Amino acid sequence: MLPVIQYTGAEGVLDLGWGHPDPSLLPVEAWAESTSEAIRAGGWKALTYGYAPGPGPLLEWLAVHIGAIDGRAPSPDELFVTAGASQGLELVSTVLTRPGDVVLVDSPTYHLALRILADRGVELRAAPTDAQGIDAAATARLADDLRAAGRRVPMLYTVATFNNPSGASMPVPRRRELVSALDGVTIVEDDTYRELGYDGPVPPSLWSLASADVVRLGSFAKTVAPGLRLGYLTADAGFVRRLANRGYIDSGGCVNHTSAMALAHFATTGRYEAHVSELREAYRLRRDALVAALRATVPTIEFAVPAGGWFLWLRVPDAAAVARRALERGVGMSTGERFHVDGGGGDRLRASFSMYSPTALEQAATRFAQSLPTGRRSG
Ligand SMILES: Cc1ncc(COP(=O)(O)O)c(C=O)c1O
Repeated sequence: MLPVIQYTGAEGVLDLGWGHPDPSLLPVEAWAESTSEAIRAGGWKALTYGYAPGPGPLLEWLAVHIGAIDGRAPSPDELFVTAGASQGLELVSTVLTRPGDVVLVDSPTYHLALRILADRGVELRAAPTDAQGIDAAATARLADDLRAAGRRVPMLYTVATFNNPSGASMPVPRRRELVSALDGVTIVEDDTYRELGYDGPVPPSLWSLASADVVRLGSFAKTVAPGLRLGYLTADAGFVRRLANRGYIDSGGCVNHTSAMALAHFATTGRYEAHVSELREAYRLRRDALVAALRATVPTIEFAVPAGGWFLWLRVPDAAAVARRALERGVGMSTGERFHVDGGGGDRLRASFSMYSPTALEQAATRFAQSLPTGRRSG
């Protein structure tokens, strides 16, 4: 039989290498109920071709919702519904880049975004980075130098908030510097984890701090369900019009109209807020369980506790060898070099706490400790 889903884990392995949701946290009943209500309420309009930038009820709700979770509210004409952050990135990079261009990326960064960008035939270069994230002045100089050498540098991709894989968020002053330093480079801000903050206020997006030249990608994959293939972007109204006028949008309308109608109903009936606040609590407990278990079993291990998102970014000498031994003990982690374009990350492992219960995460930490050379674990 052909598979139904993307991830099929190996028997007996607690796989912290994948950034997927805990199946028990997917809103099966609430979504089923809400979708059937939405289709009945919308009737044929829920099933026909949708308005190019997304159905009105979702755009109107998003405009208010984003105002509540970010530094400013978009107007409805600054919004465009996508089939998820990945499709948003594919679409935006198609519009902005040509093969042979240089695209700057933060480092470390979401490894599968690197694949999406590589598919465009562009050269990926790490933006200069320091402890606070992308170094704005050095990145502007790099872009100038590349242009002086005859290259086009149309875009920079960054996961500035609850970064995948590091969990880090760029401080607000650095955000302000970055949005004003880059001239002629569109910042594509992957904001997938904004609503999964566990420790208080979440910094405003780069998009909310800039008047133009930032496209922010949002997603419902982490807050509702990845299988919906649904997300949105915010950008200036002119850029949104460019997207909406593309031939394939003109041909097919909104890229995921029926799911977008269902999401609008899920949100406007209060189910979205209720679900996301439950998720925040559940993932906070998972983060705390893995942090405490690693500190107890491997007190020497270094990592920063992320204030949101799904990942711990562990500093481990010879990470590839440790990952191999950990897998033999029944725990999977991702090796750090996958998240770099410049050969870095050999001393890092990404551990996701999203897919398992706190108890299973404690078990994973115990197995991980057993896979380290003696002397690095507790006792
Ligand atoms: C930073 C980041 N961007 C995008 C995605 C994928 O988002 P979507 O499912 O909306 O395409 C992920 C999922 O792991 C992610 O971590």
